[in-house]
Amino acid sequence: MADEILRLEGISKHFGGLHALQEVSFSVVGGEALGLVGPNGSGKTTLINVVCGLYTPNSGSIYLEGTKLGKMNPHRLARAGINRTFQVPQPFGSLTVRENIEIALSHRSGEGMSLDDILDFVNLGKWAGQEAGSLNAAQQKRLDLGRALALNPKVLFVDELGAGLNPVELAEVAVMLRSLLSGGRALVVVEHLMGFLDKLVDRVIVLNAGREIFHGALRSALDDDEVKRVFLGTVGA
Ligand SMILES: Nc1ncnc2c1ncn2[C@@H]1O[C@H](COP(=O)(O)OP(=O)(O)OP(=O)(O)O)[C@@H](O)[C@H]1O
Ligand SMILES: [Mg+2]
Repeated sequence: MADEILRLEGISKHFGGLHALQEVSFSVVGGEALGLVGPNGSGKTTLINVVCGLYTPNSGSIYLEGTKLGKMNPHRLARAGINRTFQVPQPFGSLTVRENIEIALSHRSGEGMSLDDILDFVNLGKWAGQEAGSLNAAQQKRLDLGRALALNPKVLFVDELGAGLNPVELAEVAVMLRSLLSGGRALVVVEHLMGFLDKLVDRVIVLNAGREIFHGALRSALDDDEVKRVFLGTVGA
């Protein structure tokens, strides 16, 4: 059994009266890709924001490689090994692709990929000197992935990296993400596109209104009555 990288225990997050996350618990081991699925507003991005230190949970604990994390800002958590991509990438638009990655690299303390390796990996070598703001949506998503990889995360959360990509780009990104699992990294993949997830993840957690309603193989999730009801029949689309 591979080593546990990240464990969440009973994470809850409220916004006023809205219970965006309710007692969510799971763990991921090295080399594993876990899918995080749920309808719009079910709490997926909120979960990433909590784990990555953007939001403080109302209750619950987070463990990185067995050590309980105290309150830490996103910057420190990224250095500790927890990083993410954004549902809507936010590069420094007037800086070049290369400069955007260099800024991320400047925050790394340990080992990891070089600037050129990252540019190659995310297929942006040809655009390295171009302003990030002029990239198309698929390129901006790959730049955001490169930025996150610069800190050599032990666990990487990707938030709808597949949204808006064409089938060829989707297949490329699925292969790209799977290759990140070698070396014991863990991935948590938030995605609405089930075909994409099927190529990528070993198991899924399904959230609805901030609560886990299913945990297991994606194929079984697609057969689960509650999951089907929550997705109003759109889950297999
Ligand atoms: N900063 C915030 N302040 C108040 N409410 C918030 C905040 N962030 C998220 N929410 C609410 O929490 C709930 C969960 O939102 P979240 O963005 O986590 O959903 P999601 O599952 O990522 O949805 P989507 O698939 O549309 O990206 C929603 O009702 C949302 O409006
Ligand atoms: Mg979201």
